[in-house]
Amino acid sequence: MSAIEGRTAVVTGGASGIGLGIARQLIAEGAHVVLADIQEAALTASAQEIGAFPVVVDVSRPESVAALADAALAEFGAVHIVVNNAGVGPMARIADLSLADWRWMIDVNLNGVIHGVHAFLPILQGNETGGHIVNTASMASFSPLPGLGAYAVTKFGVAALTEVLRAELKEEGSKVSATLLAPGTVRTNIKESLRNRPDSEKGGLFDTDIGMGEAAKLRWLEPLEVGKIVTRAIRNDDAYALTHPEWWPMVEERNQLIKASFAKYAD
Ligand SMILES: NC(=O)c1ccc[n+]([C@@H]2O[C@H](COP(=O)([O-])OP(=O)(O)OC[C@H]3O[C@@H](n4cnc5c(N)ncnc54)[C@H](O)[C@@H]3O)[C@@H](O)[C@H]2O)c1
Repeated sequence: MSAIEGRTAVVTGGASGIGLGIARQLIAEGAHVVLADIQEAALTASAQEIGAFPVVVDVSRPESVAALADAALAEFGAVHIVVNNAGVGPMARIADLSLADWRWMIDVNLNGVIHGVHAFLPILQGNETGGHIVNTASMASFSPLPGLGAYAVTKFGVAALTEVLRAELKEEGSKVSATLLAPGTVRTNIKESLRNRPDSEKGGLFDTDIGMGEAAKLRWLEPLEVGKIVTRAIRNDDAYALTHPEWWPMVEERNQLIKASFAKYAD
């Protein structure tokens, strides 16, 4: 069980969407929150609204994430919970992706989480009470779909990182633990992800509002609901924090294909 009340949490990608929902819920449950984001104006406004401490960060740059850790320690003296949540979700078919597209997606979605774990794990391990890391992946970590190739590659990476980290921490009897957050459809600004792309090359990636198409019929959550799922997962030390348990058949379909292939090659 990881406590939340009185603890200090760092949430990346906290200016908007799921990160803001998680931060809001952490504060409601008595945590101090360092809200970190690349978008300074949105960050200032969101931090003011919820009563968090804002720090501008670009998670794709290791030195920026190290500076975030320094700023959090300077303000609160300790960090106990880290939510590596910043991410982008534009689409493109694999044949249409430029190498710059791949690099940006991997730098933000995968390296961003790696930088967070690298900077904060030693800090959490230094706490007498340990701590908790939550890494935001996606249902695309379990069920990759056409058009989401680069996204799924990064989210599979986040899943592998989190599962191995959790297993190693358990093996060591550590007081630090890790949870994988795998959201389904949540109403956020992810449909405008290219707003945060720094280079001028647009490549093949494009923003799309899947909430306007077929996917509009799916169950869409508000970010605060995800925040409540995340704090429950932290308190219970769950391996996975899931927003759409009814999507299991989609995951099972892939697992069944893998299982059938194992059977086929056993002959
Ligand atoms: N919305 C969904 O349906 C959904 C589903 C599955 C997973 N996710 C994941 O949830 C996470 C949050 O996304 P969201 O949907 O809330 O989108 P969002 O666009 O509302 O929020 C993402 C935040 O990350 C910030 N950000 C982007 N690049 C950054 C960088 N380099 N450094 C620091 N901050 C950066 C953005 O400024 C923004 O505030 C992402 O990892 C995303 O992949 C979202």
